[in-house]
Amino acid sequence: MIAVDKLTDAEAAAELARLAAEIAAADRAYYERDAPDLTDAEYDALRQRNAAIEAAFPLLVTADSPSRRLGAAPASGFAKLRHAVPMLSLDNAFAPEDFIEFCERVRRFLGLKDTPLAFAAEPKIDGLSINLTYENGVFIHGATRGDGSEGEDVTANLRTIADVPQQLRGDAPARIEIRGEVFMTKADFLALNAAQEAAGQKVFANPRNAAAGSLRQIDPAVTAGRRLSLFAYAMGQASERVASTHWAYLQRLKEWGFAVNGRNQLLASETDAAAFQAAMAAGRSALPYDIDGVVYKIDDLSLQERLGYVGREPRWAIAWKFPAEQATTVLQDIEIQIGRTGALTPVAILQSVNVGGVLVTRATLHNEDEIARKDTRIGDTVVVQRAGDVIPQIVTVLLDKRPADAVAYAFPTHCPACGSLAVRPPGEVVKRCTGGLTCPAQVEERLAHFVSRAAFDIDGLGAKTVHEFMQAGLLHSPLDIFKLTAADIAGREGWGDTSIANLLRAIESRRRIPLARFIFALGIRRIGEATAKLLAKHYGNFAIWRAQMREAVAIGSQARIDLSSITGIGPAIAEELGEFFAEPRNLTAVDALAGALSIDDYVGAAGPGEGQLAGKIVVFTGTLTTMSRPEAKALAERLGAKVLDSVSKRTDLVVVGADAGSKARKAAELGVKVVSEDEWRALAEAGQSTIAP
Ligand code: IVH
Repeated sequence: MIAVDKLTDAEAAAELARLAAEIAAADRAYYERDAPDLTDAEYDALRQRNAAIEAAFPLLVTADSPSRRLGAAPASGFAKLRHAVPMLSLDNAFAPEDFIEFCERVRRFLGLKDTPLAFAAEPKIDGLSINLTYENGVFIHGATRGDGSEGEDVTANLRTIADVPQQLRGDAPARIEIRGEVFMTKADFLALNAAQEAAGQKVFANPRNAAAGSLRQIDPAVTAGRRLSLFAYAMGQASERVASTHWAYLQRLKEWGFAVNGRNQLLASETDAAAFQAAMAAGRSALPYDIDGVVYKIDDLSLQERLGYVGREPRWAIAWKFPAEQATTVLQDIEIQIGRTGALTPVAILQSVNVGGVLVTRATLHNEDEIARKDTRIGDTVVVQRAGDVIPQIVTVLLDKRPADAVAYAFPTHCPACGSLAVRPPGEVVKRCTGGLTCPAQVEERLAHFVSRAAFDIDGLGAKTVHEFMQAGLLHSPLDIFKLTAADIAGREGWGDTSIANLLRAIESRRRIPLARFIFALGIRRIGEATAKLLAKHYGNFAIWRAQMREAVAIGSQARIDLSSITGIGPAIAEELGEFFAEPRNLTAVDALAGALSIDDYVGAAGPGEGQLAGKIVVFTGTLTTMSRPEAKALAERLGAKVLDSVSKRTDLVVVGADAGSKARKAAELGVKVVSEDEWRALAEAGQSTIAP
């Protein structure tokens, strides 16, 4: 690298342009795709070099210099668009057993014995899913998947894609949402990268990143210059029924003018899946686009409807992924990362290697025991693999390539960030820092979690900015975010009046927050997005939740029993919540936040069956003959009920099947309403008919 004071004007200008492109690309990878492609040190080095050159050549500072731009700016350039029906993700299968198990689950749920399950099989293209809305056959708008409930309005960019029909042919419903995958073919990806390289711009790591980066351009003219393709494959909201099987639906899509993947196939029975999977895996490299597996969807739409969803995944579809791709490289170093709950996670720093089209520089080493079990040493040659979107892993150490001077790795006994003792409770594999809120690494991780997309989702405040603000002493706790002022930020590198105003506006807009997001944002161990939602749904509002959690601190309390009997919670999560609320500092922090915010009560999705079972607590007992237990439970939940496993005086309804035992007796003792299976069916059908299409 040439020293800054030795650069000519022309060299400085050229380097600034290159730095701007690299920083912008790294920002996109980090903020928009949550997939940083540079280490923090590499990123900081780019920014420092940029700042140094700008300081020496002030006349070369451009209006859109990275030093004047906020990291997340490109992502916030789009308006949010809410999907009428949420966009889901898929459960994964990696082996034939996983697929067989999936089919067994489906059969159990539906109470089916030997009837073959017909599937639509579709190659799974690794692009990005989008939702297109048509009214009276006219394309109205389109959005990225986003968090599943709302995405970014990329309508103008979608209009530049030839595969997105502006007008549907034939008779389409008055209003319909169509979902599909936007992707780039291998040929278009290579051509784009060649052009980017020739222009001195950053090249994309893989077709998926190229498609995402191209679709999410602020200027539609840039998108128009990229060659993007679309295959349609799913349905969102529709004002009328358009087909009775998924396969027939795909044919309708073609009639309307969509491109549908010609390699999709209708399988008469699940026994045909393995052969299809093998054929696709074998033909994979010859396809014009990258695929990472096959999506299998139950063909019969009435069965799909009965199967419904768990969390964000349909019970009627599964993505069967191809085996992981592997490569060999050298382990250069082992770094310890501290998670938000204090877990010490060892990370392998690798000599950069191409694994199935993606450059890998880091891989997880899981934990202390894993390192010891494989006797992984710095300097070793290792086999790394990536499967789908999971973090790359080290599979084996090639012992015959071990350097003579390699020494066994000594796992730290103390937290490398704060020096506190790291402990490992008996029976656990994870070593944790005991520093709690005094450990800066933990505090930073918690803050980053707090502002992350599924939590407070504050535009312009990503992990990088959290780090910067913590270093500057502006942030110590989540509450500090809501105390930030323009004066605090002004004068900091990269922050102008506009970006400060944008950030403060984004923070202000999050003073109102749904209860589920609030709970998730607290970063309590084991409380993920889905669990936070369950809690919000069960308790309804912040005050009740808080009071119940305080009570649930006591093991054996009614509140603790209620908590652990919520479907999907269980004793381990209940214990975690109990521990969290037993810590006075946590309670103080929660209350301080609640005081500064307005936390919205839980509102269920579209409120189906309102009045029927909404908010009611239902318990099933005994054997049901006309529907399986999981289906009965899912149905009750769809009607707004909470299904618990044990009967208490708070239970509203007990559904008694054949051979019911103690629960039925207890219900009678407590005077809880008891109904038979027939009565339950009648009730459920009455409730269901009120569900909007
Ligand atoms: S169906 C409920 N079909 O895979 C159905 N997804 O892992 C949800 N994908 O977000 C999606 N090809 O981006 C579906 N034929 C296909 C697909 C497909 C690729 C992607 C899509 C989705 C992700 C879920």
